[in-house]
Amino acid sequence: AAGPLVLGIESSCDETGVGIVRGTQLLANTVATSMDEHVRYGGVVPEVASRAHVQAIGPAIREALATAGVGLDDLDAIAVTAGPGLSGALLVGVSAAKGLAAATGKQLYGLNHLAAHVAVDLVAPDAPGLELPTIALLVSGGHTEILRIDDIVDGIELLGSTIDDAAGEAFDKTARLLGLDYPGGPNISKAAAGAFDPEGRPGDPHAVSFPRGLMTGKDLRRPERRYAFSFSGLKTAALRFTTADGGRTRQADVAASFEQAVVDVLVAKTMLAVEDTGIDRVLLGGGVAANARLRETLGQACAAAGVALRVPPLSLCTDNGAMIAALGAEVVRRGLPPSDPGFGVTSSLE
Ligand code: KG4
Ligand code: ZN
Repeated sequence: AAGPLVLGIESSCDETGVGIVRGTQLLANTVATSMDEHVRYGGVVPEVASRAHVQAIGPAIREALATAGVGLDDLDAIAVTAGPGLSGALLVGVSAAKGLAAATGKQLYGLNHLAAHVAVDLVAPDAPGLELPTIALLVSGGHTEILRIDDIVDGIELLGSTIDDAAGEAFDKTARLLGLDYPGGPNISKAAAGAFDPEGRPGDPHAVSFPRGLMTGKDLRRPERRYAFSFSGLKTAALRFTTADGGRTRQADVAASFEQAVVDVLVAKTMLAVEDTGIDRVLLGGGVAANARLRETLGQACAAAGVALRVPPLSLCTDNGAMIAALGAEVVRRGLPPSDPGFGVTSSLE
């Protein structure tokens, strides 16, 4: 079955993504990243990301159209991330989308990035279709949320988010402390697995006792903290530990212990949301979904609770244009009106 042909643009953080879908069929997913340019800063620098988007967006649109074998005239609609994200970065994608819409007369939809992280499963080649309701755990370098999804368009409830650093950001910052390059997430995982250990010995996740943020009984009793995350205390603890330790503890042990601390909280709070809502499905999204310890621990917790865990292919978990196009196609399929032509960008979650 065909469906609306939609081009989606994503530029909320450091990936410039352009995806094209026809209904639930993925035709193209071009992603350019400015990751390399952020390496020396140890994290995403908004100004640098915005400049990179300006350079990448034109070629990415061309490449996606060529890959999909369609022209602008063939499109039924154009979709773009309107937020949440870095304002300057979002503006590049939104401006490009508005330009395209103005030139072609196509309908334009400004969409929510978090909803799109879930909607992407509609176009995953191995997906059973989007099974709802579901709890979604979205973890990346730019955001960290637990959502309750009853409907992908108008049934999304934000249960909790980070009050300081995103999970991926915590990985990136701690990696830097340990002398590992940006992006730190994959490098901490490798270090924890023993890849940088002279003898290749994996780290002990219980070697260093790091704090688990917002996990006290008092925190869990307060509705606004129950599903909220805080990773700044962990980051500070890692800094204190490495300074005091002076390199005596193996890097693998520190990395594994840090990783376990992040994963424990992510999994515990996700399972709380499952218990509280009675929803028996969890969807994992965002770049940190690449973390093997997270996938494994969440997989075990879900299995033990009789909950189905869904993890889209990694290329669809990280920020990309296909997720925006997927949500756009669903919105068009439902016959929803396009966004007001004057719509702006929103940096915050709500
Ligand atoms: O979704 P994503 O590609 O984009 C942005 O957040 O912009 O996520 C990237 C984030 C980075 O913070 C990176 O360190 C983290 O995901 N990440 C990981 C792993 N792979 C990527 N964190 C932990 N373990 C990993 N294996
Ligand atoms: Zn994202």
